Amino acid sequence: MIVETNAPLQPHNTFGIVARARNMVRVRGAEDVHALLAHPELGAEPKFVLGGGSNIVLTGDVKAVVLKVEVAGRRVLEDGPKATIVEFGAGENWHEAVTWTMEQGLGGLENLALIPGTVGASPVQNIGAYGIELQDRFESLDAIDLVTGREFTLDATQCAFGYRDSVFKHSPARGSDFGLAGRALILRVRMRLPKPWKPVLGYIDLQRKMAETGVQAPTARQIYDWVCAIRSAKLPDPRVIGNAGSFFKNPTVTPEQCQDIIGREPNIVHYPMPDGSVKLAAGWLIDACGWKGKSVGQAGVYEKQALVLVNRGGATGGEVVTLARAIQTSVYERFGIRLEPEPVVV
Ligand code: EPU
Repeated sequence: MIVETNAPLQPHNTFGIVARARNMVRVRGAEDVHALLAHPELGAEPKFVLGGGSNIVLTGDVKAVVLKVEVAGRRVLEDGPKATIVEFGAGENWHEAVTWTMEQGLGGLENLALIPGTVGASPVQNIGAYGIELQDRFESLDAIDLVTGREFTLDATQCAFGYRDSVFKHSPARGSDFGLAGRALILRVRMRLPKPWKPVLGYIDLQRKMAETGVQAPTARQIYDWVCAIRSAKLPDPRVIGNAGSFFKNPTVTPEQCQDIIGREPNIVHYPMPDGSVKLAAGWLIDACGWKGKSVGQAGVYEKQALVLVNRGGATGGEVVTLARAIQTSVYERFGIRLEPEPVVV
């Protein structure tokens, strides 16, 4: 185990914010975590697990020991009659993992192409796009307890997936075992790719692609290419413009609240959900408040998608947070809706 001191974190967060870790350890397997826990000084220190850094806003140097997850590996674990199970090391890049499944001729993850971040971060967020969420393809994961060093496996139920939510985003409450935030590091993730493969084409942008191309029965590879094209057209590439994807979750309201808002804002974008609630497009709400293209210092609202905050060059975490708060205030004042951020502010 090598401990890097005063390690730069700018290359490890997709916002590209400048910050440093007092101590950083690269985790390539469980043995690195065991070595850290046995370390005379750092073993008992607070720890911070960092994947691809695609869902964090750094507001200063990180005092906790940063565990940079670099567990590698991709393989077909099982090829059964009902599904193929694939397994990835948590440090694998998510999009490269999806691309690898396409190269193996395995469909199932194509709608989730081009999402920034690592495989290990995908269950934490329960990433989702174009009609599929990770939980729809999730089989199980292996993780390690950062206090005891014990390794364990969780299935989908134990992960408690919700919309951009899981057990890994909750801190253990007093008197309860639920919540693994800061407690666990994900080592490997297994995905179930159902047989026969079925396309998921309900999302409006994919319907548009079908109409444009005249392709009514696309292959998984075709959908992968469409999703890459759609995302590239409206979402900034973090390698070019720092960002953390959608900055806020899409809020849900009751049908009564929605009717009330429609009365005042007839054009509001809304989707009825299976449980009777109504989901509103946060991007539309922010756009309607006139935020597209606006900035606070070097932190800005992306011109093509108001839900994405960007680093225009040298933004601080404080500027991002100030901009996010100003957006929350104006959306609340106009619509009475509180927007909840997706990324974790560190
Ligand atoms: N809209 C506007 N103005 C904007 C942005 C959006 O009017 O500036 C409208 C769009 O016209 C559309 C609606 O809002 O009618 C929804 O927009 P979009 O289809 O772009 O999707 P989204 O709800 O903004 C969600 C996810 C994305 C995911 C896409 C596709 C969340 C928070 N975001 O975005 O996920 O890629 O759907 O499925 O759920 C992420 O989480 O980081 C992420 C990028």
